Amino acid sequence: MNIFISVLVGYLLGSISFSYVFGQKLKKLDIRQHGSGNAGATNTLRVLGVGPAIGVLLLDALKGIVAVLLALYLAGEGLAPALAGLAAIIGHNWPIFLRFKGGKGVATTIGVLATLVFWPALIAGLVAILSIVVSRFVSLGSLLFLLLTTIITALFREYFAYPIEYVYLMIAVTILSFWRHRTNISRLIKGNESKIGQKANQ
Ligand code: G3P
Repeated sequence: MNIFISVLVGYLLGSISFSYVFGQKLKKLDIRQHGSGNAGATNTLRVLGVGPAIGVLLLDALKGIVAVLLALYLAGEGLAPALAGLAAIIGHNWPIFLRFKGGKGVATTIGVLATLVFWPALIAGLVAILSIVVSRFVSLGSLLFLLLTTIITALFREYFAYPIEYVYLMIAVTILSFWRHRTNISRLIKGNESKIGQKANQ
């Protein structure tokens, strides 16, 4: 029962799309019809600017943090927080409140992974930030973050005493994220992915 409640609350929390809320509140626009069309912090930066983008990044990450903490409180380490985190990310990508058209889940994933596997997420996060600063591709940094956190967690799982469910979660989330970023990946390969500070490609 506790796992069911954790997953349900995780999905509903994830479904609150802060980029959509900010777009509506600040400019009465649907963020999904502007820039890259993605309901996320990167597109908020393009469409609404730096301040709102930082707000969206933090609040979207907070959804993942709260979902995981609630599951840890209700059911302890292992399956429940892994499923609740996955549910929050799925909620962000396919929000019930927005007819299932949401974002790519990166900020919420950051919140989930920083709560579950802090050190691997921190190391991967620093490498990802460096790659974004150098390349100016947020999508590349996002994918690098997912891949690296998964690899570091799998390699050092016993050292950190992480439950195996966290590795399974991360493999699922990484596959999901690569699939959600498939148009970004295709643009990265073709060399026409939009960089920070540039107008978005649709
Ligand atoms: O978090 C999403 C980011 O990796 C890419 O977003 O708007 O450039 O498709 P966007």
